[in-house]
Amino acid sequence: MANVLITGANRGIGLELARTYAKAGDRVFAFSRSPKDAKALNDLAASSGGKVTVHAMDVGDGASIAEGAKVVGDTPIDILINNAGVLGGNPQTLQAIDFDAWIDALKIMTIGPFRVVQTFLPNLKKAAAPKVMTVTSQLAASTWPFGGTYAYSSAKAGVNKVMQTLALDLKGDNIAVSMIHPGWVKTDMGGPNADITPEESAAGIHKVVAGLGMQDTGKFFKWNGDIHAW
Ligand SMILES: NC(=O)c1ccc[n+]([C@@H]2O[C@H](COP(=O)([O-])OP(=O)(O)OC[C@H]3O[C@@H](n4cnc5c(N)ncnc54)[C@H](OP(=O)(O)O)[C@@H]3O)[C@@H](O)[C@H]2O)c1
Repeated sequence: MANVLITGANRGIGLELARTYAKAGDRVFAFSRSPKDAKALNDLAASSGGKVTVHAMDVGDGASIAEGAKVVGDTPIDILINNAGVLGGNPQTLQAIDFDAWIDALKIMTIGPFRVVQTFLPNLKKAAAPKVMTVTSQLAASTWPFGGTYAYSSAKAGVNKVMQTLALDLKGDNIAVSMIHPGWVKTDMGGPNADITPEESAAGIHKVVAGLGMQDTGKFFKWNGDIHAW
């Protein structure tokens, strides 16, 4: 049984990851920025026999991350999944860009995952084979040119570099740090025309994380286990 921490666990891929880990018998600390509105996640927790607990964390806010850490206390964290994400405004064109939404995207998707790792580092260090997986995007990759999406793409490209740097810095602590593109997924973010379901994406991420070791630290994966060029 692993202790698993997931951010943005109240809907989409995060909710499905919480379901997947709970089904596998793991203990899930499921974080949501608004637990009182997280009906599906609260229902999952209620039917999990204590395997899933729901807690508040806004990953764009350092004080909120620190509050979240109090809930976990000194429990070892085996798997930390940075999943929370936003689009960062719509539209995101050269002609029309919302700079405040862009700054929020950087706070939530680039700085937030760093802060979450920094805050839970003592918990990761207590685990036997700790792993950090950050859900990023193919739009982070220089090999995947895509016009517009300035806020989203820059925030995801930024977090890839942050995670690669963390992978180097945490090698001595035997903490494996990797990134994953979850596929184009039918969620509120991905829309109904996307390629795969949240269940397929979560199953793929679960499998990649299960196989993750120090030999994979710093690598960028696709949800199907392939390496993503970037
Ligand atoms: N869907 C795709 O096709 C796709 C493709 C590539 C990458 N991704 C990435 O996959 C991850 C999950 O995306 P998704 O498709 O599941 O999106 P989603 O359905 O829109 O869900 C996003 C989740 O992130 C949470 N979140 C947003 N801002 C937050 C904050 N400040 N603090 C904590 N939680 C916050 C949301 O919580 P609220 O309900 O409170 O807003 C929600 O739980 C994201 O990182 C996304 O960028 C998705």
